[in-house]
Amino acid sequence: TTGDVTYDPGFGNTANCQSGITFIDGAEGILRYRGYPIEELAQHSGYLETSYLLGKGELPSTEQFEAFETRVLRHTHVHEDFRRLIASFPRSAHPMAIISSAVSALPGFYPEVFEVAGEDVEELATVLLLAKLPTIVAYVLRHTRGQRMPDAEPENGFVRDFLRMALHEVRDPEVPDEVVSAMDKLLLLHADHEQNCSTATVRNVGSAHANLFLSVAAGINALSGPLHGGANEAVLTMLEEIRDTHGDVNTFVNKVKDKSSDVRLMGFGHRVYKNYDPRAAIVKSAADEVLGSLGMSDDLLDLARELEDVALNDDYFVQRKLYPNVDFYTGLIYRAIGFPTSMFTPLFALGRMPGWIAQWREMMHDPSTRIARPRQVYTGPAMRGYVPMAER
Ligand code: SDX
Repeated sequence: TTGDVTYDPGFGNTANCQSGITFIDGAEGILRYRGYPIEELAQHSGYLETSYLLGKGELPSTEQFEAFETRVLRHTHVHEDFRRLIASFPRSAHPMAIISSAVSALPGFYPEVFEVAGEDVEELATVLLLAKLPTIVAYVLRHTRGQRMPDAEPENGFVRDFLRMALHEVRDPEVPDEVVSAMDKLLLLHADHEQNCSTATVRNVGSAHANLFLSVAAGINALSGPLHGGANEAVLTMLEEIRDTHGDVNTFVNKVKDKSSDVRLMGFGHRVYKNYDPRAAIVKSAADEVLGSLGMSDDLLDLARELEDVALNDDYFVQRKLYPNVDFYTGLIYRAIGFPTSMFTPLFALGRMPGWIAQWREMMHDPSTRIARPRQVYTGPAMRGYVPMAER
């Protein structure tokens, strides 16, 4: 402590905002969106309905949902110049870098939302982001693969048309229903998660009254880190490395436990959950459903299950309360559907978009909000006088 500032390296238990959107009990492994348990939403709701819930605070009536869905579907097309913007990036650029730039640029193509102020413009900006991000993510994948960017066909439905735009020619045009519902569920599971690194970033940037698009773009950048959203990509790399070195899970676990190796079990551990991440349990069962519906077996899924089993029975992980988090199994499903690992974190961003928007809007309408200004504990030298260079 120096002066009025106390340094808390745990940081995780320092509340720096109040919010009524998502509740997490990390010790018990509980997650609720606007009071609804994630397990019930995953079973009965969908990504778009949950996006409405996160933003409005209530589940929509049939009429409300149909009006919302129709409005979103009407905006899934993107401007021709916008395709040229995506195509202007090197195909080797990481998709998260392209997506972050594209989201920042959106207001330039839709001047009616350049200044996101007032309920109507906020609502339009919300709809534009929700509607266009799937198309942007799909186009970025097509661009990196040197493929044309197909027009949106919203009559196919929100998630099905995203998968068609992204994966057509990889998958047969008719995406199996089980794949569509699994993708919808995965997006829903990522929709919000309280004040995680990327959401806190969106709030910080927005607290300076940066507009919604630029605030969300900052969140996309934060999410790209391998300790955060980038973990789903890192899990696949980790599993492939284990498989390619004779698939010995115990050797890998011993390397993780050897602190000098600085190797982490990616997809395990969490700043808040000191119990099984409830989303991971749902994703794990969805993996079985998707692979079953595609008639696929997956050696990496078997390896992941073995790795989880070994870790959950090893004191090193049990004592540190390290359990699978949402990223441990998601990449295996994305890969089975046909996405390359470089697209796993963009899919996380697609899921998280409604949460970033809802949290930004909640903050902007909270009269107690002030510009983010964290303090520090000063650890540098005490005051001293300047010494002329000739005398140093
Ligand atoms: C997400 O916050 C959110 O809500 C995020 C998220 C969301 O929906 O937005 O849930 C999404 O980001 C999930 C997390 C994805 N990241 C990973 O899977 C990367 C691997 N996990 C970690 O690096 C780590 O667990 C963190 C970053 C997630 C959490 O780090 P903490 O809480 O700061 O953990 P820590 O560094 O305090 O670790 C405590 C101990 C340490 O050992 P000791 O120093 O006590 O001996 O546990 C060890 C750590 O070395 N440890 C791990 C480990 N995670 C922590 N050891 C091996 N493998 C790991 N994964």
